[in-house]
Amino acid sequence: MKIVVIGGTGLIGSKTVAILRQGAHDVVAASPNSGVNTVTGEGVKEAVAGAQVVIDLANSPSFEDKAVLEFFETAGGNLLPAETAAGVGHHVALSIVAIDRTDNGYFRAKLAQEKLIEASGIPYTIIRSTQFLEFLRGIADSSADGNVVRLSPGLFQPIAAGDVAAVVAEVALAAPRNGIVEIAGPERAPFNEIVASYLKAVSDPREVVRDPEARYFGGRVEERSLVPLGEARLGHIGLDEWLRRSPTKA
Ligand SMILES: NC(=O)c1ccc[n+]([C@@H]2O[C@H](COP(=O)([O-])OP(=O)(O)OC[C@H]3O[C@@H](n4cnc5c(N)ncnc54)[C@H](OP(=O)(O)O)[C@@H]3O)[C@@H](O)[C@H]2O)c1
Repeated sequence: MKIVVIGGTGLIGSKTVAILRQGAHDVVAASPNSGVNTVTGEGVKEAVAGAQVVIDLANSPSFEDKAVLEFFETAGGNLLPAETAAGVGHHVALSIVAIDRTDNGYFRAKLAQEKLIEASGIPYTIIRSTQFLEFLRGIADSSADGNVVRLSPGLFQPIAAGDVAAVVAEVALAAPRNGIVEIAGPERAPFNEIVASYLKAVSDPREVVRDPEARYFGGRVEERSLVPLGEARLGHIGLDEWLRRSPTKA
């Protein structure tokens, strides 16, 4: 079976490609560097020709509100019609838990991506994940003012990229759900406490301040703004185990 992974060189994409290549599949890792650009449309038609499954794991180079919305709308507008024309039988995309009930510019862009998929007529599965453990440093940096990192005590349940990729690969090989699957990490705790534990573990001297008014990418974070409300599949790797396995993150 031919499986195209758009964003196949990224954090989740490269891990997903590696897992799928263990099976007897023709797996194409597509990205601008390999001549497949979903924003310009370059190479998209050729990449998806003959594919049964397309997994979209691309991400916008800019997280600025307007740029990220434009990225996901333009990419969907190029990729999905090409898949329809090629007769692709399953479109899988990685989205984010709570994007329909927590407001920020990045989440609005991901919601736009989901809506294009749902309207496309292509059989699909959307996987909504919580934030990746690999993203903790980026979160700390984006919430820092000098040596102080201000974060909400809202609940947080980060998941390791390896756990995400395992689910993405499994979902891609299963029948389309025409719906949403939610995944999250094995541990749930206040946002400020998890980031404080991470910074301490990696000997980052910045101080984390619990601040209920602190914004996450510009949006308010209430107690359950970022965690699944219903049933979610849980990853196996918590923060301590992830740090043990990835000492270079420290
Ligand atoms: N960060 C989180 O905590 C989180 C949580 C839930 C869901 N997600 C979602 O997970 C997905 C994957 O994230 P990630 O962290 O693995 O991304 P990443 O490491 O930043 O990788 C992005 C990938 O997208 C490719 N790409 C960029 N522009 C492209 C274009 N115009 N056409 C085709 N491919 C393009 C990149 O290719 P090059 O290598 O050539 O640049 C790269 O392969 C994203 O959709 C994100 O919204 C993220």
